[in-house]
Amino acid sequence: MTLTVNTPATTQTPAMNPLRKGLRMERTPQPCVMVIFGATGDLTHRKLIPALYNLALEHLLPEGFSMVGFARRPWDDKVFQETALESVNKFSRRRPVQPSVWEQFVKGIRYVSSDFNNPEGYKKLAETLDAIDKERGTQGNRLFYLSTNPSDYETIVENLGQAGLAKPQSSSTTEAWTRIIVEKPFGHDLKTAQELNDVIGRAFRENQIYRIDHYLGKETVQNLLVFRFANGIFEPIWNRQYVDHIQMVVSEELGVEGRGPYYDTSGTIRDMVQNHMMQLLSLVCMEPPINYEANAIRDEKTKVLRAIKPLDSDEVVERTVRGQYGPGTIFGKPVPGYRQEERVDPNSITDTFVAMKLFIDNWRWAGVPIYLRTGKRLPKRTSEISLQFKPAPQQLFGSSGVPLEPNVLVLQIQPNEGISLKFGAKVPGQTMNIRPVTMDFRFGQSFGVAAADAYERLILDAMLGDSTLFARRDEVEQAWAIVTSIIDGWKLHMPPAFPNYEAGTWGPKEADELIERDGRQWRRL
Ligand code: BG6
Repeated sequence: MTLTVNTPATTQTPAMNPLRKGLRMERTPQPCVMVIFGATGDLTHRKLIPALYNLALEHLLPEGFSMVGFARRPWDDKVFQETALESVNKFSRRRPVQPSVWEQFVKGIRYVSSDFNNPEGYKKLAETLDAIDKERGTQGNRLFYLSTNPSDYETIVENLGQAGLAKPQSSSTTEAWTRIIVEKPFGHDLKTAQELNDVIGRAFRENQIYRIDHYLGKETVQNLLVFRFANGIFEPIWNRQYVDHIQMVVSEELGVEGRGPYYDTSGTIRDMVQNHMMQLLSLVCMEPPINYEANAIRDEKTKVLRAIKPLDSDEVVERTVRGQYGPGTIFGKPVPGYRQEERVDPNSITDTFVAMKLFIDNWRWAGVPIYLRTGKRLPKRTSEISLQFKPAPQQLFGSSGVPLEPNVLVLQIQPNEGISLKFGAKVPGQTMNIRPVTMDFRFGQSFGVAAADAYERLILDAMLGDSTLFARRDEVEQAWAIVTSIIDGWKLHMPPAFPNYEAGTWGPKEADELIERDGRQWRRL
């Protein structure tokens, strides 16, 4: 992975930012075609096409770059090109569309209409890819993107294998590459994740497989590694000697947004905890990697997950809380409860909120609780990780007996991305009054450039063959082992009386009790 160091950008405009210039020069992939399975779906429309267009806008796509949509709808190139333009007009980070960039980009857009289980469709795809190689010089380099319903993954992967499309294509001049990006959800539990890994592994080698987790593409998440390992002052205190506990919160004010059928079989535990939260946790808690390469980093992330023991059924009761929202108000507007959402079972016992306490059984973290909290229809959208430090060993100030507030380091993932450190300061005056103050760093203020969307970063990495920000097989399975133990534990006990929190509140009271039992509190957000 390429790291480029930048200087504070207080006087820079985005156009003259050397980081961008540097990236452009270092990070242009070889000519290639990206094939999107599920090209008519929501993710393609909202995220993938806008991301590709933004890469084109920044001159980060290789010359001749082409995109092939593969889906069931009986569209042709023209219809797909028109809907792609709509996606960009509606969802691109940068709008309106720049005609000169679009004109170039649209030349490489093709569409193959086929059922996913029809070998003829894959033959047509192979012909289309060969034609694109000839016309646009893409040299046999292929990036497949699985963005369909996960129940289609197996069929697609097997058909790609049978059509000979999974193997890197050899050409007379260069070594071509073939890679596959697999969207979440990656399996439904440990067993199905293992099965899916086996299926994909029969057609593709591990180094061709890119399991995407869009949280890893967020700038602030990547900055976690920089913060920890490019600075000498934090690492010495990043352990059980100094850290009292860690809190990780990913809250959303959104509900299930028309995704009822998916969400009702998934719940927050699978939708957010197994992937995004486990990824955040492993980055915050991992040991320093031996270098900044994909496998070195993924080795350390996996080791952290291995140090979290799957929970037995008593631990599930003691250390996890699940919730489901009822009707309530968000930003003053009434919203329905989960069970009243479109295409959701009116008696659903699916979780829309999860809180838990985990322990990492290793030398660095033994005994330090990690509290996780995530849910839908909470009062606001925010993601943060905070490390609360132990108090000073002796209290010299404040005879009033009121304990001083602890030092807290907050890594704000979104929105208002940044890092802040809370410490006690003397209030000016004749008495020794101490009040908490913060030292603040905000990405927006310091660098003055808008962060790219996570998908832009990750798609580009996959084209470059950099898998650092993608999950490896063992990592995904380890995260599933933890989460599956919780899901299994829940099955053994009656679910709480759902709904158990009102939309627009911070979840069920049991979540507060979970942390308060330990004499601690959730941070006010
Ligand atoms: C997705 C989940 O993976 O992440 C959604 O399926 C969730 O339910 C989303 O809303 C949150 O992502 P972000 O980037 O908005 O924090």
